[in-house]
Amino acid sequence: MATSVRSFSKINLGLAIGPPRPDGFHELVTLYQTLEAHDVVTVEANPSEQNRVLLTSNDARVPTDSRNTVWKMLDQAMKRLLPEFSAEVSVHIEKGLPVQGGLGAGSANAVAALIGLERELRRQFSGAERLEIAAAVGSDVPLFLIGGTVLGLGRGEEVYPMPDLEPIHCVVALPSIGVSTPLAFQEWDLTEGKQLTAEANFDRLKELGRVLSAGLSGAFFTEEGRPEDPLLALVRTGIENDFEKVVFRQYPFLGEIKRILEPGAVYAALSGSGSAVFGLYQTEEAARKAEEALAGQGTACLRTKTLSRREYWQTMVETR
Ligand code: C5P
Repeated sequence: MATSVRSFSKINLGLAIGPPRPDGFHELVTLYQTLEAHDVVTVEANPSEQNRVLLTSNDARVPTDSRNTVWKMLDQAMKRLLPEFSAEVSVHIEKGLPVQGGLGAGSANAVAALIGLERELRRQFSGAERLEIAAAVGSDVPLFLIGGTVLGLGRGEEVYPMPDLEPIHCVVALPSIGVSTPLAFQEWDLTEGKQLTAEANFDRLKELGRVLSAGLSGAFFTEEGRPEDPLLALVRTGIENDFEKVVFRQYPFLGEIKRILEPGAVYAALSGSGSAVFGLYQTEEAARKAEEALAGQGTACLRTKTLSRREYWQTMVETR
């Protein structure tokens, strides 16, 4: 019998870019948040003489060969089971999410496939093994092994579960612009990054890490001495995405989208290097208004909610 796994999406609530590292990646501090909007990944595995992965999707834009993160993930995972065990694994990716940069859909598909494989084979990798395999597939894959509100350090792959933010309405604008992540990092190095010494840049990252962990842990108080809502505390103390400085310069249209999302929003920002731009709203009405404003301007969007860690794990595997 096949196993169907919901493959949820994410946004980056904040992201600070550090200096480039000898391995070509950049040091990061980022705050990930999972969303309800999802794809469904269905996995069926049968013992076979050789490892084999067969991918299909309802969306023709999804690669079904070794370029797909699902393929990379299963290849890594199944190699670890050799020589005792080999299997033929069929995976169908039913896209509910748009194929859009910034939402981590491909990375989430990979984790969903791993979880589906474990269920099918009735064999679990250890938590450490899972994280190691995920990190080898991509920097924003391991966050999907945690879910909810997640702090990302290193190149984004060192993940730490944080106290969950209260679920909140989220509108994600989906502009039909493709942003190259490696080029956005390069542009950062050549412009903003160049103006900072490595030491000053590391200090910025440390400061964001401190603000994020203190704010999310309820360590900030209102003027009246009450604990401040963690999201509001982060917005007040300053949370931002460094990529906006370079990506909005290159694509001013994305900056305009953020301005459309801002009225009524607690917070609006570019997600990752984009091109997804999101707004967070306390009420469904405010979210609907943002959705209408985007529709009026002709930009596609999706309306969803943030997803806590508990809901993430409780609703991930479809029981039949
Ligand atoms: O890890 P992932 O495959 O998502 O990264 C894609 C590209 O983005 C990398 O090859 C690298 O050029 C860039 N990157 C980076 N620093 C990071 C994450 C990604 O420079 N922390």
